[in-house]
Amino acid sequence: MMKTPRILAALVATALFAIAGCGGGGDDDDSGGAPEAEKAAQAKASGDVTWCIGKDTTGAFGTVVDNFNKANPKANVKLLELPENADDQRRLQIQRLRAKNSECDVLGADVIWVPEYVGQGWVKDVSDFISENGDKFIPSTIDTTEVDGKNYAVPFNSNAGFIYYRTDEVDSAPKDWESLYQEAAKGSGVVYQGFRYEGLTVNFLELLYSAGGSVVSEDGKQATADSQEVKDVLKFMADGIESGAVPKAVTTYKEEESRRAFESGNATFMRNWPYAYSLGKDSKIADKFDIATFPGFAGNEGAGVIGGYNLAISAYSKNAEGALAFIDFATSPDQQKIMATEASLPPTIASVYDDPAVKKAMPFAEDLRTAIEQAKPRPVSPVYPQITEAIYNNVYDALQGKASPDEAASKMNDEIQKALETF
Ligand code: GLC
Repeated sequence: MMKTPRILAALVATALFAIAGCGGGGDDDDSGGAPEAEKAAQAKASGDVTWCIGKDTTGAFGTVVDNFNKANPKANVKLLELPENADDQRRLQIQRLRAKNSECDVLGADVIWVPEYVGQGWVKDVSDFISENGDKFIPSTIDTTEVDGKNYAVPFNSNAGFIYYRTDEVDSAPKDWESLYQEAAKGSGVVYQGFRYEGLTVNFLELLYSAGGSVVSEDGKQATADSQEVKDVLKFMADGIESGAVPKAVTTYKEEESRRAFESGNATFMRNWPYAYSLGKDSKIADKFDIATFPGFAGNEGAGVIGGYNLAISAYSKNAEGALAFIDFATSPDQQKIMATEASLPPTIASVYDDPAVKKAMPFAEDLRTAIEQAKPRPVSPVYPQITEAIYNNVYDALQGKASPDEAASKMNDEIQKALETF
Protein backbone atom coordinates (compact mmCIF):
# COMPACT_ATOMS: atom_id res chain seq x y z
CA MET A 1 0.00 0.00 0.00
CA MET A 2 1.20 3.54 0.87
CA LYS A 3 4.75 4.39 1.81
CA THR A 4 5.31 4.93 5.51
CA PRO A 5 4.15 8.32 6.75
CA ARG A 6 7.68 9.14 7.99
CA ILE A 7 9.20 8.79 4.54
CA LEU A 8 6.34 10.79 3.09
CA ALA A 9 6.69 13.55 5.64
CA ALA A 10 10.42 13.78 4.97
CA LEU A 11 9.80 13.85 1.24
CA VAL A 12 7.21 16.58 1.43
CA ALA A 13 9.35 18.56 3.88
CA THR A 14 12.35 18.41 1.51
CA ALA A 15 10.19 19.47 -1.40
CA LEU A 16 8.72 22.33 0.56
CA PHE A 17 12.21 23.39 1.59
CA ALA A 18 13.24 23.40 -2.05
CA ILE A 19 10.48 25.80 -2.92
CA ALA A 20 10.49 27.64 0.42
CA GLY A 21 9.93 31.34 0.23
CA CYS A 22 7.47 31.17 -2.61
CA GLY A 23 4.41 30.98 -0.35
CA GLY A 24 2.72 34.10 1.07
CA GLY A 25 4.25 37.20 -0.53
CA GLY A 26 4.40 35.97 -4.10
CA ASP A 27 0.84 34.77 -4.21
CA ASP A 28 -0.58 38.15 -3.32
CA ASP A 29 1.29 39.74 -6.12
CA ASP A 30 -1.01 40.31 -9.03
CA SER A 31 1.33 42.27 -11.19
CA GLY A 32 1.61 39.27 -13.49
CA GLY A 33 5.27 38.50 -12.70
CA ALA A 34 6.67 36.51 -9.77
CA PRO A 35 8.59 38.59 -7.22
CA GLU A 36 12.37 38.12 -7.09
CA ALA A 37 12.40 35.85 -4.01
CA GLU A 38 9.83 33.59 -5.63
CA LYS A 39 11.73 33.45 -8.89
CA ALA A 40 14.93 32.54 -7.07
CA ALA A 41 13.18 29.84 -5.06
CA GLN A 42 11.47 28.36 -8.10
CA ALA A 43 14.72 28.30 -9.97
CA LYS A 44 15.92 25.70 -7.47
CA ALA A 45 13.49 23.18 -8.94
CA SER A 46 15.47 20.70 -10.95
CA GLY A 47 15.32 17.53 -12.97
CA ASP A 48 12.81 16.10 -15.38
CA VAL A 49 9.12 16.12 -14.60
CA THR A 50 6.43 14.61 -16.82
CA TRP A 51 2.91 15.94 -16.47
CA CYS A 52 0.23 13.48 -17.63
CA ILE A 53 -3.12 15.19 -18.17
CA GLY A 54 -5.96 15.17 -20.71
CA LYS A 55 -5.64 16.69 -24.17
CA ASP A 56 -4.56 20.33 -24.22
CA THR A 57 -7.67 21.43 -26.12
CA THR A 58 -7.12 25.12 -25.47
CA GLY A 59 -3.29 25.27 -25.49
CA ALA A 60 -3.28 26.55 -21.89
CA PHE A 61 -1.37 23.58 -20.43
CA GLY A 62 1.46 24.12 -22.90
CA THR A 63 1.68 27.78 -21.86
CA VAL A 64 1.99 26.86 -18.16
CA VAL A 65 4.75 24.34 -18.99
CA ASP A 66 6.68 26.92 -21.04
CA ASN A 67 6.36 29.49 -18.28
CA PHE A 68 7.67 27.05 -15.69
CA ASN A 69 10.60 25.90 -17.82
CA LYS A 70 11.58 29.51 -18.52
CA ALA A 71 11.56 30.35 -14.80
CA ASN A 72 13.40 27.12 -13.87
CA PRO A 73 16.41 26.60 -16.10
CA LYS A 74 17.51 23.55 -14.11
CA ALA A 75 14.18 21.79 -14.50
CA ASN A 76 12.42 20.43 -17.52
CA VAL A 77 8.70 19.75 -17.46
CA LYS A 78 7.26 17.77 -20.33
CA LEU A 79 3.57 17.59 -21.13
CA LEU A 80 2.24 14.13 -21.91
CA GLU A 81 -1.23 14.61 -23.39
CA LEU A 82 -3.74 11.89 -22.66
CA PRO A 83 -7.01 11.56 -24.66
CA GLU A 84 -9.90 14.03 -24.47
CA ASN A 85 -12.29 11.61 -22.78
CA ALA A 86 -11.98 11.48 -18.96
CA ASP A 87 -12.50 7.68 -18.83
CA ASP A 88 -9.68 7.07 -21.34
CA GLN A 89 -7.38 9.38 -19.38
CA ARG A 90 -8.01 7.41 -16.20
CA ARG A 91 -7.51 4.09 -18.00
CA LEU A 92 -4.11 5.15 -19.34
CA GLN A 93 -3.01 6.59 -15.98
CA ILE A 94 -3.95 3.47 -14.05
CA GLN A 95 -2.28 1.16 -16.58
CA ARG A 96 0.97 2.90 -15.68
CA LEU A 97 0.20 3.06 -11.94
CA ARG A 98 -0.65 -0.64 -11.75
CA ALA A 99 2.68 -1.40 -13.40
CA LYS A 100 4.43 0.93 -10.89
CA ASN A 101 5.65 2.85 -13.94
CA SER A 102 7.49 6.09 -13.11
CA GLU A 103 6.80 7.89 -16.41
CA CYS A 104 4.15 10.27 -15.04
CA ASP A 105 5.38 12.42 -12.15
CA VAL A 106 2.40 14.74 -11.99
CA LEU A 107 -1.05 13.29 -12.60
CA GLY A 108 -3.86 15.50 -13.80
CA ALA A 109 -6.62 13.69 -11.95
CA ASP A 110 -10.31 14.35 -12.40
CA VAL A 111 -11.72 15.38 -9.01
CA ILE A 112 -13.66 12.09 -8.74
CA TRP A 113 -10.61 9.80 -9.03
CA VAL A 114 -8.85 10.97 -5.87
CA PRO A 115 -10.46 8.50 -3.40
CA GLU A 116 -9.66 5.56 -5.71
CA TYR A 117 -6.05 6.68 -6.30
CA VAL A 118 -5.54 7.15 -2.55
CA GLY A 119 -7.13 3.79 -1.74
CA GLN A 120 -4.68 2.12 -4.13
CA GLY A 121 -1.65 3.99 -2.73
CA TRP A 122 -0.97 5.59 -6.11
CA VAL A 123 -0.49 9.22 -4.99
CA LYS A 124 1.60 11.00 -2.38
CA ASP A 125 0.33 12.84 0.68
CA VAL A 126 0.60 16.63 0.16
CA SER A 127 -1.17 17.65 3.38
CA ASP A 128 1.73 19.93 4.44
CA PHE A 129 1.48 21.87 1.19
CA ILE A 130 -2.30 22.24 1.63
CA SER A 131 -1.99 23.34 5.28
CA GLU A 132 0.36 26.12 4.13
CA ASN A 133 -1.53 27.20 1.03
CA GLY A 134 -5.02 25.70 1.26
CA ASP A 135 -6.91 28.74 2.52
CA LYS A 136 -6.46 30.60 -0.78
CA PHE A 137 -8.50 27.93 -2.56
CA ILE A 138 -12.31 27.70 -2.82
CA PRO A 139 -13.27 25.23 -0.04
CA SER A 140 -15.32 22.96 -2.35
CA THR A 141 -12.18 22.44 -4.47
CA ILE A 142 -10.04 21.52 -1.44
CA ASP A 143 -12.73 19.01 -0.40
CA THR A 144 -12.03 17.08 -3.61
CA THR A 145 -8.39 16.51 -2.54
CA GLU A 146 -9.16 15.12 0.88
CA VAL A 147 -9.46 11.54 2.13
CA ASP A 148 -9.72 10.79 5.86
CA GLY A 149 -8.48 14.23 6.85
CA LYS A 150 -5.40 14.22 4.62
CA ASN A 151 -4.82 15.87 1.24
CA TYR A 152 -3.45 14.01 -1.75
CA ALA A 153 -3.62 16.61 -4.52
CA VAL A 154 -3.76 20.36 -5.22
CA PRO A 155 -6.78 21.89 -7.01
CA PHE A 156 -5.73 22.95 -10.53
CA ASN A 157 -8.88 23.96 -12.35
CA SER A 158 -12.46 23.75 -11.19
CA ASN A 159 -15.56 23.31 -13.31
CA ALA A 160 -19.30 23.91 -13.37
CA GLY A 161 -21.65 23.48 -16.32
CA PHE A 162 -23.50 26.32 -18.08
CA ILE A 163 -26.18 26.74 -20.73
CA TYR A 164 -24.95 28.24 -23.97
CA TYR A 165 -27.62 29.79 -26.18
CA ARG A 166 -27.81 31.46 -29.58
CA THR A 167 -28.71 35.13 -29.08
CA ASP A 168 -29.88 35.38 -32.71
CA GLU A 169 -32.42 32.59 -32.15
CA VAL A 170 -33.74 33.21 -28.62
CA ASP A 171 -33.88 36.28 -26.36
CA SER A 172 -32.58 34.57 -23.25
CA ALA A 173 -31.99 31.18 -21.70
CA PRO A 174 -35.28 29.67 -20.47
CA LYS A 175 -35.91 29.55 -16.72
CA ASP A 176 -36.40 25.80 -16.52
CA TRP A 177 -35.21 22.71 -18.38
CA GLU A 178 -38.79 21.85 -19.40
CA SER A 179 -39.23 25.09 -21.36
CA LEU A 180 -35.66 24.88 -22.64
CA TYR A 181 -36.52 21.54 -24.27
CA GLN A 182 -39.75 23.01 -25.69
CA GLU A 183 -37.90 25.93 -27.25
CA ALA A 184 -35.16 23.60 -28.45
CA ALA A 185 -37.77 21.48 -30.26
CA LYS A 186 -39.03 24.61 -32.06
CA GLY A 187 -35.49 25.76 -32.91
CA SER A 188 -32.49 23.64 -33.82
CA GLY A 189 -32.26 21.62 -30.63
CA VAL A 190 -30.15 21.29 -27.51
CA VAL A 191 -26.90 19.34 -27.41
CA TYR A 192 -25.08 17.88 -24.43
CA GLN A 193 -22.71 15.04 -23.54
CA GLY A 194 -24.77 11.92 -24.22
CA PHE A 195 -22.06 9.38 -25.10
CA ARG A 196 -21.56 6.38 -22.78
CA TYR A 197 -18.89 7.88 -20.44
CA GLU A 198 -18.29 10.13 -17.43
CA GLY A 199 -19.77 13.18 -19.13
CA LEU A 200 -23.16 11.47 -19.35
CA THR A 201 -23.06 10.78 -15.60
CA VAL A 202 -22.50 14.50 -15.02
CA ASN A 203 -25.31 15.57 -17.38
CA PHE A 204 -27.70 13.12 -15.73
CA LEU A 205 -26.76 14.09 -12.15
CA GLU A 206 -27.23 17.78 -12.90
CA LEU A 207 -30.85 17.09 -13.73
CA LEU A 208 -31.26 14.58 -10.92
CA TYR A 209 -29.83 16.90 -8.25
CA SER A 210 -32.10 19.67 -9.57
CA ALA A 211 -35.05 17.27 -9.19
CA GLY A 212 -34.04 16.64 -5.57
CA GLY A 213 -32.88 13.04 -6.20
CA SER A 214 -29.68 11.15 -5.44
CA VAL A 215 -27.99 7.86 -6.39
CA VAL A 216 -26.27 7.04 -3.08
CA SER A 217 -27.41 7.70 0.51
CA GLU A 218 -25.66 10.42 2.54
CA ASP A 219 -23.66 7.86 4.56
CA GLY A 220 -22.46 6.36 1.28
CA LYS A 221 -23.73 2.89 2.12
CA GLN A 222 -26.97 2.46 0.18
CA ALA A 223 -27.94 2.91 -3.45
CA THR A 224 -30.90 5.30 -3.74
CA ALA A 225 -31.39 5.20 -7.51
CA ASP A 226 -34.62 3.22 -7.64
CA SER A 227 -36.60 6.39 -7.02
CA GLN A 228 -39.33 8.46 -8.67
CA GLU A 229 -36.83 11.28 -9.28
CA VAL A 230 -34.46 8.99 -11.19
CA LYS A 231 -37.33 7.61 -13.27
CA ASP A 232 -38.65 11.12 -13.99
CA VAL A 233 -35.24 12.39 -15.12
CA LEU A 234 -34.66 9.33 -17.33
CA LYS A 235 -38.09 9.80 -18.88
CA PHE A 236 -37.41 13.50 -19.44
CA MET A 237 -34.10 12.73 -21.17
CA ALA A 238 -35.50 9.89 -23.31
CA ASP A 239 -38.54 12.00 -24.30
CA GLY A 240 -36.15 14.79 -25.30
CA ILE A 241 -34.66 12.59 -28.00
CA GLU A 242 -38.06 11.19 -28.96
CA SER A 243 -39.59 14.68 -29.42
CA GLY A 244 -36.66 15.97 -31.45
CA ALA A 245 -35.63 18.60 -28.87
CA VAL A 246 -32.33 16.70 -28.65
CA PRO A 247 -30.73 15.30 -31.82
CA LYS A 248 -30.26 11.53 -31.74
CA ALA A 249 -26.56 12.10 -32.51
CA VAL A 250 -26.13 13.41 -28.97
CA THR A 251 -25.52 9.79 -27.87
CA THR A 252 -22.19 10.05 -29.71
CA TYR A 253 -21.26 13.45 -28.26
CA LYS A 254 -18.62 14.24 -25.67
CA GLU A 255 -17.62 17.84 -24.85
CA GLU A 256 -15.82 18.54 -28.11
CA GLU A 257 -18.50 17.07 -30.39
CA SER A 258 -21.13 19.18 -28.59
CA ARG A 259 -19.00 22.29 -28.97
CA ARG A 260 -18.46 21.67 -32.66
CA ALA A 261 -22.19 21.10 -33.27
CA PHE A 262 -23.02 24.35 -31.47
CA GLU A 263 -20.32 26.36 -33.23
CA SER A 264 -21.40 25.04 -36.64
CA GLY A 265 -24.88 26.41 -36.03
CA ASN A 266 -26.49 23.01 -35.51
CA ALA A 267 -28.00 23.73 -32.08
CA THR A 268 -29.88 26.56 -30.38
CA PHE A 269 -28.70 25.48 -26.92
CA MET A 270 -25.78 23.56 -25.51
CA ARG A 271 -24.83 22.29 -22.06
CA ASN A 272 -21.07 22.55 -21.67
CA TRP A 273 -18.23 23.63 -19.38
CA PRO A 274 -16.76 27.16 -19.48
CA TYR A 275 -13.76 26.10 -21.60
CA ALA A 276 -16.11 26.26 -24.62
CA TYR A 277 -16.64 29.99 -24.03
CA SER A 278 -13.22 31.28 -25.10
CA LEU A 279 -13.10 28.85 -28.03
CA GLY A 280 -16.61 29.97 -29.03
CA LYS A 281 -15.47 33.60 -28.94
CA ASP A 282 -12.88 32.68 -31.58
CA SER A 283 -15.42 30.88 -33.76
CA LYS A 284 -17.78 32.06 -36.48
CA ILE A 285 -20.64 32.40 -33.96
CA ALA A 286 -18.50 34.62 -31.69
CA ASP A 287 -21.11 37.42 -31.56
CA LYS A 288 -24.13 35.17 -31.64
CA PHE A 289 -24.06 33.34 -28.33
CA ASP A 290 -24.14 33.95 -24.63
CA ILE A 291 -24.11 31.78 -21.54
CA ALA A 292 -26.36 31.45 -18.49
CA THR A 293 -26.45 29.54 -15.20
CA PHE A 294 -28.48 26.34 -15.08
CA PRO A 295 -32.27 26.54 -15.34
CA GLY A 296 -34.54 24.99 -12.71
CA PHE A 297 -36.17 21.61 -13.03
CA ALA A 298 -39.41 20.06 -11.75
CA GLY A 299 -40.25 23.27 -9.89
CA ASN A 300 -36.86 23.39 -8.10
CA GLU A 301 -33.84 25.59 -8.63
CA GLY A 302 -31.17 24.24 -10.97
CA ALA A 303 -28.24 22.40 -9.39
CA GLY A 304 -24.75 21.83 -10.74
CA VAL A 305 -22.15 19.11 -10.34
CA ILE A 306 -18.60 20.07 -9.45
CA GLY A 307 -15.95 19.10 -11.97
CA GLY A 308 -12.33 19.95 -12.49
CA TYR A 309 -8.84 18.56 -12.20
CA ASN A 310 -6.41 18.20 -9.34
CA LEU A 311 -2.67 17.76 -9.64
CA ALA A 312 -1.25 14.82 -7.69
CA ILE A 313 2.25 13.36 -7.38
CA SER A 314 2.50 9.76 -8.53
CA ALA A 315 3.71 7.39 -5.81
CA TYR A 316 6.20 6.07 -8.39
CA SER A 317 7.66 9.46 -9.36
CA LYS A 318 11.44 9.60 -9.19
CA ASN A 319 11.39 13.40 -8.84
CA ALA A 320 8.77 14.24 -6.24
CA GLU A 321 10.51 17.51 -5.34
CA GLY A 322 10.43 18.72 -8.91
CA ALA A 323 6.85 17.52 -9.24
CA LEU A 324 5.72 19.51 -6.20
CA ALA A 325 7.59 22.60 -7.39
CA PHE A 326 5.75 22.36 -10.71
CA ILE A 327 2.38 21.81 -8.98
CA ASP A 328 3.01 24.86 -6.81
CA PHE A 329 3.75 26.92 -9.93
CA ALA A 330 0.89 25.58 -12.07
CA THR A 331 -1.71 26.23 -9.35
CA SER A 332 -0.40 29.73 -8.47
CA PRO A 333 -2.68 32.74 -9.01
CA ASP A 334 -0.55 34.01 -11.90
CA GLN A 335 -0.87 30.80 -13.90
CA GLN A 336 -4.55 30.41 -13.04
CA LYS A 337 -5.10 33.92 -14.33
CA ILE A 338 -3.47 32.98 -17.63
CA MET A 339 -5.63 29.85 -17.90
CA ALA A 340 -8.76 31.85 -17.10
CA THR A 341 -8.09 34.70 -19.52
CA GLU A 342 -6.79 32.63 -22.41
CA ALA A 343 -8.78 29.43 -22.09
CA SER A 344 -11.71 30.24 -19.75
CA LEU A 345 -10.61 27.43 -17.42
CA PRO A 346 -12.26 28.07 -14.04
CA PRO A 347 -9.75 29.04 -11.31
CA THR A 348 -9.64 27.19 -7.99
CA ILE A 349 -8.33 30.26 -6.14
CA ALA A 350 -11.14 32.60 -5.15
CA SER A 351 -9.23 35.89 -5.58
CA VAL A 352 -8.45 35.19 -9.25
CA TYR A 353 -12.14 35.74 -10.05
CA ASP A 354 -11.82 39.38 -8.88
CA ASP A 355 -9.01 40.19 -11.30
CA PRO A 356 -10.26 42.76 -13.86
CA ALA A 357 -8.61 40.88 -16.75
CA VAL A 358 -10.39 37.67 -15.71
CA LYS A 359 -13.73 39.50 -15.46
CA LYS A 360 -13.19 40.93 -18.92
CA ALA A 361 -12.31 37.60 -20.51
CA MET A 362 -15.07 35.75 -18.63
CA PRO A 363 -17.97 38.19 -18.13
CA PHE A 364 -19.72 35.38 -16.22
CA ALA A 365 -16.86 35.10 -13.67
CA GLU A 366 -19.04 36.06 -10.70
CA ASP A 367 -21.73 33.50 -11.60
CA LEU A 368 -19.05 30.92 -12.18
CA ARG A 369 -17.51 31.37 -8.73
CA THR A 370 -20.98 31.05 -7.16
CA ALA A 371 -21.76 27.99 -9.31
CA ILE A 372 -18.53 26.32 -8.16
CA GLU A 373 -19.16 27.17 -4.51
CA GLN A 374 -22.66 25.71 -4.73
CA ALA A 375 -22.09 22.75 -7.06
CA LYS A 376 -22.66 19.32 -5.58
CA PRO A 377 -20.12 16.50 -5.66
CA ARG A 378 -20.61 13.23 -7.46
CA PRO A 379 -20.64 10.25 -5.05
CA VAL A 380 -17.32 10.25 -3.18
CA SER A 381 -16.08 6.65 -3.09
CA PRO A 382 -13.07 4.44 -3.83
CA VAL A 383 -15.45 2.44 -6.06
CA TYR A 384 -16.62 5.54 -7.92
CA PRO A 385 -15.53 4.05 -11.29
CA GLN A 386 -18.06 1.22 -10.86
CA ILE A 387 -20.74 3.62 -9.60
CA THR A 388 -20.38 5.91 -12.59
CA GLU A 389 -20.45 2.95 -14.99
CA ALA A 390 -23.74 1.87 -13.42
CA ILE A 391 -25.04 5.39 -13.99
CA TYR A 392 -23.94 6.08 -17.54
CA ASN A 393 -24.61 2.60 -18.93
CA ASN A 394 -28.22 2.70 -17.74
CA VAL A 395 -28.85 6.32 -18.69
CA TYR A 396 -27.45 5.46 -22.11
CA ASP A 397 -29.79 2.48 -22.48
CA ALA A 398 -32.74 4.70 -21.57
CA LEU A 399 -31.63 7.31 -24.14
CA GLN A 400 -31.35 4.60 -26.80
CA GLY A 401 -34.81 3.29 -25.95
CA LYS A 402 -33.25 -0.06 -24.99
CA ALA A 403 -34.66 0.12 -21.46
CA SER A 404 -37.70 1.88 -20.05
CA PRO A 405 -37.00 4.56 -17.41
CA ASP A 406 -38.28 2.15 -14.73
CA GLU A 407 -36.07 -0.71 -15.89
CA ALA A 408 -33.03 1.54 -16.18
CA ALA A 409 -33.58 2.99 -12.68
CA SER A 410 -33.90 -0.41 -11.11
CA LYS A 411 -30.84 -1.84 -12.85
CA MET A 412 -28.80 1.28 -12.02
CA ASN A 413 -29.76 0.85 -8.38
CA ASP A 414 -28.75 -2.84 -8.28
CA GLU A 415 -25.41 -2.19 -9.94
CA ILE A 416 -24.60 0.74 -7.63
CA GLN A 417 -25.53 -1.38 -4.61
CA LYS A 418 -23.23 -4.18 -5.81
CA ALA A 419 -20.38 -1.70 -6.30
CA LEU A 420 -20.88 -0.32 -2.77
CA GLU A 421 -20.74 -3.81 -1.32
CA THR A 422 -17.35 -4.55 -2.86
CA PHE A 423 -15.40 -2.53 -0.31
C1 GLC B 1 -14.78 17.91 -17.28
C2 GLC B 1 -14.80 18.02 -15.77
C3 GLC B 1 -14.60 16.68 -15.13
C4 GLC B 1 -15.66 15.72 -15.65
C5 GLC B 1 -15.56 15.62 -17.17
C6 GLC B 1 -16.68 14.75 -17.72
O1 GLC B 1 -13.50 17.64 -17.73
O2 GLC B 1 -13.81 18.93 -15.34
O3 GLC B 1 -14.68 16.76 -13.72
O4 GLC B 1 -15.55 14.45 -15.06
O5 GLC B 1 -15.66 16.90 -17.74
O6 GLC B 1 -16.60 14.63 -19.08
